[in-house]
Amino acid sequence: MEEKILTIFAKRKSSWVSGEEISKELGVSRTSVWKHMEILRALGYGIEAVPHHGYRLISRPDRLIPEEVRVGLRASLLGRNICSYTSLDSTNDTAYALAEKGAKEGTVVIAEEQKRGKGRQGRQWISPKGGMYISCIIRPDIEPREVAKVTLVTAVGVCAALREVTRLPVMIKWPNDIMIGGKKVSGILTEMKAEQDRVQFVIVGIGINVSAPARLLPKGATSLSRAAKTPVPKVLTAKKVLEYCEYYIMLFKKRGFEPVRDEWRLFSATLGKQITIHCHDEKLEGEALDVDKDGALVLRMDNGFQRRILSGDVTFAH
Ligand code: BTN
Repeated sequence: MEEKILTIFAKRKSSWVSGEEISKELGVSRTSVWKHMEILRALGYGIEAVPHHGYRLISRPDRLIPEEVRVGLRASLLGRNICSYTSLDSTNDTAYALAEKGAKEGTVVIAEEQKRGKGRQGRQWISPKGGMYISCIIRPDIEPREVAKVTLVTAVGVCAALREVTRLPVMIKWPNDIMIGGKKVSGILTEMKAEQDRVQFVIVGIGINVSAPARLLPKGATSLSRAAKTPVPKVLTAKKVLEYCEYYIMLFKKRGFEPVRDEWRLFSATLGKQITIHCHDEKLEGEALDVDKDGALVLRMDNGFQRRILSGDVTFAH
């Protein structure tokens, strides 16, 4: 009902709409219209009400609620079903539970804060308010060993989205750290449920520091607002991330990893650099040559040998 009222407001631009008109259009009583206006106000919408004029929308909240994220969203898969929360333990956990119960591909879980945000390799993802925490349910027809590619595909989508939102040269540090000016603004955690040779579903979890204050972020991290030196709206960021991620996920599903890998190379902060990779208990040093067709990083080690690495943490040599 709230979404329908917002659609009526949108049609009227910023002019007045009478309670009677709304109640007729929605087929509900004027008291019910008033109650829904109160719900919208509680969500953060600025609604003026004046006797004999009716209602007028004067401001919208920058909140990650379905009513806002869905307006004008140019995505047909990601976001067709949005579950949004003010606070959750982990959007990945909630999305995983939904996927197990059969939630459709494209279902998205969004939170404005996480209490137990999960990072890669069992780490914590600090998730204060002012960030954006999204998990998407994908059901790709791939083998479990191919799932690393889905993470890289998503990284390309997030990178492209953040470039559009900030107009900054956002880069990807292999495998999936999204960086601005050498600082991390976003990370991706992919989890899956699979049988022996087929993936049942993949949960792609994306965490973005949109405007959280620096003191709440870990060392080496920044936020979009800080990097862009201007406030960056969360709703716009969420829409762009969903649109670009959908574009690259569809490209991957239709034409495979190759075309997305080309884009990944363009956004890469890693290729051609002298790096150190911590992977499991090993520390490897060398030049990052490429990402191969499986999404593995190809490293030319200082002893001249090449190694393919599927996961690890990269640091740059100075
Ligand atoms: C990383 O370590 O770089 C990956 C961080 C991924 C964080 C996101 S926030 C949304 C989703 N829910 C989680 O608990 N983690 C991912």
